[in-house]
Amino acid sequence: MSKTVTITDNASGKSIECQVMEGTHGHPVVDTRALSKELGMFTFDPAFVTTASCESAITFIDGEKGILLHRGYPIDQLAENSSYLEVCYLLINGELPTKTEMDSFVFSIGRLSLLHEGLLNFFNGFRHDAHPMAMLAGVVAGMSSHYHEEMDIYNPEHRNMCAIRLLGKMPTIAAKSFRYLLGRPYVYPRHDLGYVENFFNMMFHLPNREMAMNPTAVKALEIMLILHADHEQNASTSTVRLAGSSQANPYACIAAGITTLWGPAHGGANEAVINMLQEIGDVKNIGPYIDRVKDKNNPTRLMGFGHRVYKNFDPRAKIIRGVCHQLLGELDATGDQQPMFEIAMELERIALEDQYFIERKLYPNVDFYSGIILSALGIPTNMFTVMFAVARTAGWIAQWKEMMEDPSLKIGRPRQLYVGAAKRDYVAMDQR
Ligand code: CMC
Repeated sequence: MSKTVTITDNASGKSIECQVMEGTHGHPVVDTRALSKELGMFTFDPAFVTTASCESAITFIDGEKGILLHRGYPIDQLAENSSYLEVCYLLINGELPTKTEMDSFVFSIGRLSLLHEGLLNFFNGFRHDAHPMAMLAGVVAGMSSHYHEEMDIYNPEHRNMCAIRLLGKMPTIAAKSFRYLLGRPYVYPRHDLGYVENFFNMMFHLPNREMAMNPTAVKALEIMLILHADHEQNASTSTVRLAGSSQANPYACIAAGITTLWGPAHGGANEAVINMLQEIGDVKNIGPYIDRVKDKNNPTRLMGFGHRVYKNFDPRAKIIRGVCHQLLGELDATGDQQPMFEIAMELERIALEDQYFIERKLYPNVDFYSGIILSALGIPTNMFTVMFAVARTAGWIAQWKEMMEDPSLKIGRPRQLYVGAAKRDYVAMDQR
């Protein structure tokens, strides 16, 4: 027998039976769609803390147990055995690819990595000190002005082309924004290099010297991209879905996701973590900083700590912590990143033993370590969220595509509890 939940309006005595829906894993959800029709009421759930906004077969998170699965595969297995592009394929298509499927996917992405010269010109309109996230959002939205002939959102082949085009061009746009800020010449993408190697080459190659590719650095960035590829219905992904539900084109939707990711409570946290570690500056200053974080009258938060869903630990943080150790051991010959890493380790240790964090189930999230890794890779702080956006493009596309393929797609339209002025008559200006 199917489970139901009864909701009764005690004032009228009217009741409705709401179906309880069970997924493959995770909490059951109550289907409240009849509520407004039958009882004339809406549910109130600011910040969607207890609302399932869609059915999805892409990613599963168990925040209590610290589990993250993509299409059923645990994140630690993917990080260890897979590549970023294979994870992209998996997220977007639902299954791991065969060799032939993978070869064709990689080839198409490489082929479409070049940026139209007209799009390159967009960059010249930005100030010399523009935030690269602004450039990324602007140029990705600008892609909608270039590929009209393959932008029918109801055509599966066009949807696929948009997906490939975005995966191909995101690193190119990201690297161009980085070089624009430095005043360095643009480096065209290379089809003969792997996805991560090509990204590194576009970021760091200089015309007057040979560039050595460090395999540990390549592996670290590959893992970073895998760990950030998708994360269920987070703020930026929900934004992409909401924008897409209005039938906006995918480039506009992904640009909306990029701008949402920018905030320090979301993708901007890795940048904020580095700023925080620099502000702390020395292990001896950790105590007073933690006191500030715990002070109710102070808005300071321990950046890289806490998560809306993970209330045990963030499985991505566990993996990235190991990568961080290995990378600093091998790459940081000068020891530049070591003091920051030591502050991070000590901060983590102190916070994890502190009642404030224990009671609130605040654990390090993926961003607590990702900034240190990116710094060790030579990526400046203002590029961190851009790197996150490049990785998350896979998830945004997969979620957008899943939504577009759902025959029951409707425009997203939350309701509200109106608490403003009651109806009143207009007052002429001379009588106010
Ligand atoms: N430092 C200090 N206190 C915190 C923190 C923190 N980082 N996070 C939550 N709290 C406290 C908060 O003050 C509240 O305390 P009280 O119950 O006494 O009022 C309690 O914990 C619950 O906080 P909340 O704001 O209701 O939790 P939330 O689920 O709405 O917020 C969060 C989740 C990630 C926005 C928040 O933990 C935060 O701001 N963390 C720092 C920013 C950060 O690292 N963000 C990256 C998230 S992971 C990457 C991604 O998915 O984008």
